[in-house]
Amino acid sequence: MTAAYPNTRMRRSRAHAWSRSMHRQNVLAPSDLVWPLFATEGKGVEEPVATLPGVSRWSVDNVAKRAREAVDLGIPCIALFPNTPPNLRSPDGKEALDPDNLMCRAVRAVRDACGNDIGILTDVALDPYTTHGQDGVLDKRGYVGNDDTVAILVDQAINQAEAGADIIAPSDMMDGRVRSIRMALEMAGHVNVQIMSYAAKYASAFYGPFRDAVGSGDFLEGDKKTYQMDPANGDEAMREIALDIAEGADSVMVKPGLPYLDIVRRAYERFDVPVFAYQVSGEYAMIEAAAAAGGGSRDALVLESLMAFKRAGCTGVLTYHAAHAARLLHG
Ligand code: PBG
Repeated sequence: MTAAYPNTRMRRSRAHAWSRSMHRQNVLAPSDLVWPLFATEGKGVEEPVATLPGVSRWSVDNVAKRAREAVDLGIPCIALFPNTPPNLRSPDGKEALDPDNLMCRAVRAVRDACGNDIGILTDVALDPYTTHGQDGVLDKRGYVGNDDTVAILVDQAINQAEAGADIIAPSDMMDGRVRSIRMALEMAGHVNVQIMSYAAKYASAFYGPFRDAVGSGDFLEGDKKTYQMDPANGDEAMREIALDIAEGADSVMVKPGLPYLDIVRRAYERFDVPVFAYQVSGEYAMIEAAAAAGGGSRDALVLESLMAFKRAGCTGVLTYHAAHAARLLHG
């Protein structure tokens, strides 16, 4: 209930910066951010990703430097994605299980450089390792088989945990994978390794630049609609999230981010687990393109879009703008 004008003037509290500051409901801090980093082979390598201006693939030594930078900026966690050399990709993505693969070497390098000062989140899915670009293995009819894929994902998750990952993030959308991964982690003694499930992940057109970055885009045949969700569906996301919580997810993710804030909000109101969102590659590219075209101030667009996640109820946001945003927040 609000008194009518002029007893109430909404602009009173907005008249001065101190008052706006005093009435501000949500706060965005570097600790809200998770920084995705792309790894590539070599030493001293930086390869800019053409479709993601300002984002590069880094060789493992440079990934470690970026992680150190994240620590210094107050960013609590990085997310790692490998650009697997094409000759190591196969129909079953078995490179994902090699203890010495790019991902595992990146994890160890970050741990060496940062100790326990940073969380390392690793993506579980087979698309950076398969010759067809799908997140799992194909049956005779070209369908991504669920249970066959889960069996491999479990081994992939354990491989990452053995390398030192702190958070396993299954992004594959297979049914039952959270339960299988949780059980395997417990049995292997990785009781404190968390699972952040990509619980409500949509078959989105916003992933294009990411697929360039990990080199799966050129390989990908068809789409991922038999496992990723239909953008038309909201209620189904609640079922997906409920299932992942029941299976043992410590936190859940909604992806993409900004176009799906309704899903974030519903999840926040409905469930008692931390909800994260992934501001995905296409969203990042959109902001960069808008800024480059004079469509707005880059810094303001970055901070406003990240604040929107907080307002919607996110505990944190995965964003390629993490380092830049953290610098802005530090002034
Ligand atoms: C892999 C994965 C994808 C993203 C994160 N993990 C791509 C996909 O599902 O095709 C997208 C991230 C982004 O676009 O920034 N399963």
